[in-house]
Amino acid sequence: MKTVTCTAPVNIAVIKYWGKRDEKLILPLNDSISFTLSQDEMCAKTTVSISPTFTEDKFWLNGKKESLENPRVQNCLKEIRRRASKRKFEGSDENVWSWHVHICSENNFPTAAGLASSAAGYACLVYALGQVYGVEGDLSSVARQGSGSACRSIHGGLVRWYKGEADDGSDSVARPIAPPDHFPNLRVIICVVNAGQKKTGSTVGMKQTVATSSLMQHRISVSVTSRIESMMKAIKEKDWPTFCDLTIADSNEMHAVCLDTFPPCVYMTDTSHAVASLLHKYNDLKTIESNINHKVCYTFDAGPNACIFAPEAVAEEVLALLLQAFPPPPAQATDDYVKGIPSQP
Ligand code: DP6
Repeated sequence: MKTVTCTAPVNIAVIKYWGKRDEKLILPLNDSISFTLSQDEMCAKTTVSISPTFTEDKFWLNGKKESLENPRVQNCLKEIRRRASKRKFEGSDENVWSWHVHICSENNFPTAAGLASSAAGYACLVYALGQVYGVEGDLSSVARQGSGSACRSIHGGLVRWYKGEADDGSDSVARPIAPPDHFPNLRVIICVVNAGQKKTGSTVGMKQTVATSSLMQHRISVSVTSRIESMMKAIKEKDWPTFCDLTIADSNEMHAVCLDTFPPCVYMTDTSHAVASLLHKYNDLKTIESNINHKVCYTFDAGPNACIFAPEAVAEEVLALLLQAFPPPPAQATDDYVKGIPSQP
């Protein structure tokens, strides 16, 4: 029997992936760029065991036995086994690719609340499978087949997922573009506005956007393409204020195309908008003080929760402002809060 345990971090997109050119292979309509967070606070953990004595594949997610019929898990598993079997023919003496697997995955943060749990989960699963079956080489294109955004969590730091041109997805891969400390002493604040499950999942939401939003045509053909290049330049030049502006603009454009979807995909709540507005006021103040390197930026995925990037020098101050404006609910209200009943964060 062989057993491997891996952890994988969450990544937060600063230029968003929203819309596919191929649903089955999970190929995006545009390139995206993300920051992979450190694993200390938020990560997925997966243990995989393979053995010639196992009679079937089995899967547990957060302690609950799950069906392995999920086509995305199957696609990842099939691709890892295909690569492992190729390795065997290249001289490996073990027949491990044919052994059944037992998979045990868990997240230490809310699943499906727009906090990129599937990204960390699939990146972790694919990496662990790759290790246990002895598969080498780029695994981002396998992780991509679990969940698009997962391919970016295979790498640390700033990562670009290239949409690629090939029909078979072979060039739709994630590559690191800068190390984690590229913008030194950066802190991330996650404001959990609501930890419940989102109404429309990303997969369904982006499909509806591609089918119905005319604004999406503009995003794909004009704005996101040029924003990617501006973001690459800002990263190369370590231009933090421009990085902030582009991150905010892309989050807002993604939510604009979500609202332009029919029926609309509404992810941000009044509280989400209030958080954004507070941060704009904060940035205005930093501009007046000629302290633009202390600007902060926010981004929202397919949910109401804000992800804020702040230089360490101002992180405590920003956190204090947020807690003052949006006091957390009393501990006993947590259950209701998790169900999303109170309107306050
Ligand atoms: C808003 O990767 O969850 O977080 O590929 O269908 O699994 P699927 O979608 P998913 O979408 C993530 C969307 C996003 C933006 C991003 O992470 O780039």
